[in-house]
Amino acid sequence: MSTEQDKEIARRRTFAIISHPDAGKTTLTEKLLLYGGAIHLAGSVKARRAKRYATSDWMAIEKERGISVTSSVLQFFYRDHAVNLLDTPGHQDFSEDTYRTLAAADAAVMLIDAAKGVEPQTIKLFKVCRLRGIPIFTFANKLDRYGRSPLELMDELEKVLGIRAYPMNWPIGSGPEFRGVYDRRTRNVHVFEAQGRHGASEVDEKIVPLESEAIKEVLSESELEALNQDIELLDIGGDEFSLDKVLSGQLSPMFFGSAMTNFGVRPFLDAFLELAPPPSGRPSSDGFVEPAKETFSGFVFKIQANMDPAHRDRIAFLRVVSGHYVKGMNAFHTRLGKEIRLAKPTQFMASERTSIEDAWPGDVIGLFDPGVFRIGDTLLEKGKYDFECVPRFSPEHFAIIRTKDPLRRKQMEKGLEQLAEEGTIQIFQQLQMGMKDPIVGVVGQLQFEVLQYRMQHEYGADIIVDKLGYSIARWVVAEKFDAKAFDWEGNRQTVTDRDGLPLVLFRDEWALQHAQDKHPEYTFQAHAPQLKASSVIASVG
Ligand code: G4P
Repeated sequence: MSTEQDKEIARRRTFAIISHPDAGKTTLTEKLLLYGGAIHLAGSVKARRAKRYATSDWMAIEKERGISVTSSVLQFFYRDHAVNLLDTPGHQDFSEDTYRTLAAADAAVMLIDAAKGVEPQTIKLFKVCRLRGIPIFTFANKLDRYGRSPLELMDELEKVLGIRAYPMNWPIGSGPEFRGVYDRRTRNVHVFEAQGRHGASEVDEKIVPLESEAIKEVLSESELEALNQDIELLDIGGDEFSLDKVLSGQLSPMFFGSAMTNFGVRPFLDAFLELAPPPSGRPSSDGFVEPAKETFSGFVFKIQANMDPAHRDRIAFLRVVSGHYVKGMNAFHTRLGKEIRLAKPTQFMASERTSIEDAWPGDVIGLFDPGVFRIGDTLLEKGKYDFECVPRFSPEHFAIIRTKDPLRRKQMEKGLEQLAEEGTIQIFQQLQMGMKDPIVGVVGQLQFEVLQYRMQHEYGADIIVDKLGYSIARWVVAEKFDAKAFDWEGNRQTVTDRDGLPLVLFRDEWALQHAQDKHPEYTFQAHAPQLKASSVIASVG
């Protein structure tokens, strides 16, 4: 291995922020970019949102509902680190993309609103991270408001998520009295100076050792007393710090702060970059591929259309697993069985695209996609193997799709096919005679709106979405399965996927359980049987 590759791997960190809407992900992202020097003056969240709308008006839904449907990958440099932040769509109804992005991350930052604690979307995303066994860091946000106590939050993490937390630092005060944090490793107190303008620039910070005379000048007697009591409690009753447990996702290093005022952002970033692992390899059909492997390899984890109206093309997001990517290189596309040129690579800096010259393990590059990529595709400089790391998630919402104008059926079919390749939807066929209209399955409800909008604007097909009452999809594995005989039981329906494999859509858990009890000879599984179990994460709903 070249020493340059060694160095580039060691300094990289690739992670995603997982959170429930409104916990402050946009704000924290902006602040991390501020500290990383990617933006010099972080505008207020509102200003940033307004700007974002201007550049991503390809979807009016986004504007109307005030949510971000698209997501991006940001790279910034901080001290000697190259940091890749994978942005997960964070609205109420997320898509499979949100889950799949986690397949490309090596660590996750779980952001929680200190007043609200662990919320539903965080739980779903946490489960995906858990299954992958990646380290999960916790940032308790909005300490500038009164919220739950730090101990309550730690307790909730354990009760709701089943993970123990190790507070790396400890807040001094909360709400308007939130003064700073105590760093448990250095035994220093970081006191922050409040400044106006929504934390538009880096916060002033005074670092004072707890065991110094000077501490009495920055903290009042009561603040000091409360802090000393808390520290004693943690030191006696808390967990021991174990980097092994952190790296295997069993212990979550926890931080406290306020993304809005920047309090605690730098101490978090410093510790995170130190503790989070450098890019890890990925399992493949030819064994585990280490990042240090000399030849370039990577996999496509996301495909996105029309992110920017100025570039009406599709972008395939590729996570580099090993080797060195150099602009203009050729790679073997294993699914197509041919060599292709990796054209127009881009990297994403805030909302602008920049062309890149090279990339290392852990980096994500955007490849211009004229329609040759699918989610999960493997690209290799040398050899023939496939990565097994992008799962297909079992959809939870289903609808029959029809065209308003029967003459536009071809356009509708083409559109559905392409969106299925992008991984936005899954398409199923009904079995009964004469029932030609496809059923579409999605992970989040909003995808139906996205589908309707895109079918109309990109494919000129006005569609009708007839929602169905099913909430669970299970592929059937059996020696012999009579799909037609199993069809239509009121609370379930048998369909086939694009590969012709049978699966059953169930109304609810009860219907699934009932079918399972009556037919122990069938196995109902949350992923398609031809996919290797190791590569698939079952339904996380
Ligand atoms: P999201 O991406 O996770 O959905 O959250 P976002 O950053 O958009 O933040 C949601 C709201 O929470 C915003 O308020 C934001 O200003 C606020 N917020 C984020 N971090 C903090 C924090 O540390 N402390 C406090 N007090 N508030 C925080 P908003 O009213 O929706 O927008 P705005 O008017 O503040 O821009």
